[in-house]
Formats: sequence, structure tokens, C-alpha cells
Amino acid sequence: MSKKTVKNRHTSNKAAAKQTSAKTQGAAKEAAAGKALKDESNRIFQERLARHHDELRWLYMELYDNDDMFAELCSQMKEYYDQRNQSLRALDAKRGSEGKWYRKRDMVGMMMYIDNFAGSIKGVQEKLSYLEQCNVNYIHLMPFLDSPKGRSDGGYAVADFRKVKPELGTMDDLAELAEKCHEKGISLCMDFVMNHTSEDHEWAVKARQRDGEYMSRYFFYADPSIPQEYEKTVPQVFPTTAPGNFTYLPELGHYVMTTFYPYQWDLNYRNPRVFNEMMYNFLYLANQGMDIIRIDAVPYIWKELGTNCRNLQQVHTIVRMMRMIGEIVCPGIVLLGEVVMEPEKVAPYFGTVEKPECHMLYNVTTMAATWNTVATRDIRLLRKQMDIVCSLPKEYTFLNYLRCHDDIGWGLDYATLSEWGMKEVPHKKYLNDYFQGKTEGSVSRGELYNEDLVTGDARFCGTTASMCGIESAGFERDEVKMDHAITKDVMLHAYMFTQSGIPMLYSGDEIGQVNDYTYKEDADKAPDSRYIHRGKFCWDLVEKIKEKDSVQGRIFNALSELEAIRRKEAMFSADAEVYTKDYSDSSILWIVRKTEKEELHAVFNFSDVDKTVWMPETAEYTDLLTGKRETIEKTVLPSWDFLWLKK
Ligand code: GLC
Repeated sequence: MSKKTVKNRHTSNKAAAKQTSAKTQGAAKEAAAGKALKDESNRIFQERLARHHDELRWLYMELYDNDDMFAELCSQMKEYYDQRNQSLRALDAKRGSEGKWYRKRDMVGMMMYIDNFAGSIKGVQEKLSYLEQCNVNYIHLMPFLDSPKGRSDGGYAVADFRKVKPELGTMDDLAELAEKCHEKGISLCMDFVMNHTSEDHEWAVKARQRDGEYMSRYFFYADPSIPQEYEKTVPQVFPTTAPGNFTYLPELGHYVMTTFYPYQWDLNYRNPRVFNEMMYNFLYLANQGMDIIRIDAVPYIWKELGTNCRNLQQVHTIVRMMRMIGEIVCPGIVLLGEVVMEPEKVAPYFGTVEKPECHMLYNVTTMAATWNTVATRDIRLLRKQMDIVCSLPKEYTFLNYLRCHDDIGWGLDYATLSEWGMKEVPHKKYLNDYFQGKTEGSVSRGELYNEDLVTGDARFCGTTASMCGIESAGFERDEVKMDHAITKDVMLHAYMFTQSGIPMLYSGDEIGQVNDYTYKEDADKAPDSRYIHRGKFCWDLVEKIKEKDSVQGRIFNALSELEAIRRKEAMFSADAEVYTKDYSDSSILWIVRKTEKEELHAVFNFSDVDKTVWMPETAEYTDLLTGKRETIEKTVLPSWDFLWLKK
């Protein structure tokens, strides 16, 4: 080797050494920065845990009295926190500093079945621009987790909480969709079906093989006397499509509790393993980028012999724990409780201001009372219901809707109705006849659901458009009827937008999609009339929204206009003062929304005749729909139409 080469090598060695040392320094710096980041992230977790630890532990011990399982829960919370990606953590932080992000008045939700709407999760991603065109910034994807074909209850029988139905895509597709949605300021909601699993879920399969550990995650009884005892006090969810609350498994010689369908096995939350594992599933799903978790059928999750197994105190303990677990691991997310119960049972699911449970609840009684008003043309009950909602703390956020994927149960205030001469059984019959279009003058179309021949009870299914008469007018090619039907449809949406909370559209309603009767041709769906309003989304109708005079164009544009007004006008904010006004006509519903500076008078004519409405005082009002400002003393409000007047 020549001297030169040695020298060269020497110099290059030196350079290399210098480089290596720079590299080491860089790496050390990086490691230090990484450590600082990790320390900071640990600190955040510990701080949140500390905030809730004592209460969480107290409640956990009250239910389970099990220190080991509590310790496991805490260490798993840390695991899921560590797994939560940076952008979701950043969103948590942003939402934390913004206050209640989901209460902004520009929120517009839409719920949809992935397959009906766009075939797959990737398909939904491709259709985001359409959803933006609908002003939607909150998407509820109906159940999409793996569930057995033909035994799925519309996806509410989950076989694997960590797997997407293969025909819809993968978990990665979901996480990618969430990311794309977040870029556009759209939030994603999914169902967390925590009351039961599918009989094909791994736990159920093992339980069926007589594995005691797994049997203890459900309710199994060899002796029929206990199921019989339960049946004495537990009402039926599906009296005709799935009667009874238990299913006999001959191969096991056991009864298993199945409050919903026989293939949906109720989970036993007395077992801490069930609670812990279900919380891990919840956190796993939250970490896929979900913003809103809809807790399905939550009132049912605790069972107690001798009770109706609904809304028991332990349910509230569990929801409160879930809220705290969310606040520790993923505080940006919102819990939406599905509490389809009588009004006095609903509000307790908000918890208290110091100990909140759900962030948001369905405004189910208002929804049912709205349709009651459509059928009776009598606003008294709806007004009473609105007064109850308006008297609740403003922090309570309701999800308002006209239609969803389920039937309408006529859970109305019958004590009040009967004072007015409307008795429960005949009144329900009246409503069901009316909406089936059997009553003179009714333009509605739809079908009964779970008609109970013993009690005479039945619920109702149909789309908003069909219930408003768009289907019948289209069938009869009657333009005058069509005008009325569209007016009614838009008015009901305006009423929904007038309420505080988040308005939730049902996919297809924005283009007036009518009932789909093809479900009857599918043997799996035929017995469940809820499929009448779960039809495929009609993309060819979307084409027609460009035609301003088409049914689709008229509805779509009217809703867009209402949404734009709601976004713009501060009177629609969640903090506005809201009350109903006593007006001398029982078909006129009058709502006032007030801020410091302005006053909205929202007036709805729930009758078949035009009415003259007298303003409380002759003053200048701006018609928010026309933009016209003028002095109004009285005005004619056409049948099924509404006014949004700003003072
Ligand atoms: C909820 C769903 C409903 C389903 C039930 C059982 O009520 O909305 O569609 O049948 O839960 O999971």
C-alpha cells in the first residue's frame, strides 16, 4: 500500500470519524427529543388518569370488586393510548382546547349504509365530495363490522369487533377514510354494539363448546325456571319477528339470553372480563379514527331478575366508566347513546354536569311526537315535548332526526294524550292506519313493524318522503299533491333544523327517496319491514338535483338553503334561548330562538288548510328565506308550510 493511499485512508478515516460522531450526536439529539416527547405523552396520560382514577376505581370496585382486573384495565388504557396515532392525539388536544366541538351550529349529520350508498368503504371515500355538497360534516356509517350473512340484524350482530365485513373493505380502509374525512373537517360515527355479540363471535363459539369461562360471558341456564321468571317481567323487543328473551340450544341443553334476535346473545356485564374486553374493543375502534361512538341499545346492558332489565342503575355506572375511559385515552371522541325510551328515562343518560355519561342522545320522543303531529294536525303534544327539552340544561346535546334505519315506535306521553281523549291502543291504531295511507285524506305510504296481535301494538316503517306523500303523488302523477308533499317534507326538515342540537339526515332524504319494496324478494330481509326504508341509494336521482324544478332539485336545494341559513345565523346556536309560544291555534307550532341581539320566530302550520298568523307585535321582520325585510302584522301561512322570521 502506498504512503499516499495510507494518508488518504487516514484522512478519510478522520472524516468518517467526524461524520460518525455527528451522526451519533444527531442520534443522541433525536433520542433525547424522542424521550422528551415520550415523557410529555406519558405525563398527559398520567394527568388524565389521575383526574379520573379514584372515581373510576370506586365504580369499578362497586360492580366487580376486583383489583387485578382493574389494574389490567389501567395498563390496557395506557397501551391503547400509546397506540393512538399522532394526528388523532393532535385532534384530541385541539378539541379539548376548543370546547364542545360537536355543538357548533354548522354541524349537519347523515347516516347511511355503506353498501347502499357506495358499495364499500373506498366507495364512500370517493363520494365525499357529494357529501360535502350536501353540507354534511358528520357521517354515521351504519354497522359494518363482520357479521354473519342472513343472521346479522342489519349488522347489529357482530362476529368480530376488529374486522370489517370483507365485502365492504378492511380496517385500513376505514382508518384511511377517517383520515380523509378529517382533512375535510368531517367526523365519522360508528356503532358500538355492546349489549350482545353474534352467535358466531369467538366467545359464543367457545361457549357453545361448553367452555365454562366463555359461557360465563353470556347468560346460560340449564333449568327453564329462571328464563321463565325473567319472561314475567321483561318486555319483548321484537314480539313478532323474534318473540321471547331466551333461545334454547338443544345441543347444549341450555337456554341463552337473547333479548333481540336468537342469534344475538346478550353479554353478561357482571363478568369483569366482559367489561374489560369490550372496553378494549371500544378503544381499538376509537383508535381507527372514529369521532363519535354510538353506543347501541345501551339501556339493556345490565340484567336483573325481577326487573324489566332496562335502564338499571348499573347501566349508568358502566356508561360513566366508559366516559371516563374515553376521556383518559381518547378525549376527542363523543359518546352518542342510543336510548330509545320514554322521555324521563332518556335525559339521565347525560349524567350530571360533574359526572357526565353520554355527550349526546337521540331526541327520540320529539321525533315520534313530530310524526304524531303530522297525523293528528294537533301540535299540543309536540309543544309539551319541546317545552320539556327546552327546560333541560343547554349543555345537553340532542341528535335530532326525522327518520333513521329503525321503525318509529309510538313512545308518546299517553297520560297526557288520554287527558285529551286519545287512549293508547286506539291512538296507536289511528297513527298506524294514517301512515299506511288507510285514513281518508292520508297521503302517507309505509308498513307496520312487529305488529303484536295480542296487545294490538305495532310500530311503523317508511321513508320521510313516502310518509310525506311524495311516493303516492308520484304514483298518481298528481302535481298538486306533489307540491304539497314537498312542502311538508321541507317543513319537517325546517322544524328539525330549528331545534337545538345536531340535525341528522337519513341518506336519501335529501333527494326525497321513497320506500323500497324489493326487500320482500330477499328471504333474509322479507320478515323485517325496516328494510322498506333501507333501500339502495339512487344515484340516478342525484343527477336530477341539477334540474331546479324536479322533485329532487326542489328538496335538495331547499335543504341546502336551510342549512346555509342555520350556519349563518347566530340564533341557531346551541346557547340561544329557546321556547315555544302560546298561540291560539292547535295546528300552529311557534318556536322562538333568542340571542342577545336577535330573535327568530319559527312558525309551522301542521294543518291541511292555509292559516293567517298574527305576529306578537307589528314590527319589522326579515324573512330568512327570501331575505325580504318588512313590517308584518299578520301573514298567510300556507298549509304544511313554515316561516323563519328574524326580528
Ligand atoms: C338498536 C339498533 C337496531 C337493532 C338493535 C339491536 O336498537 O338501532 O337496529 O336491531 O339495536 O342491536
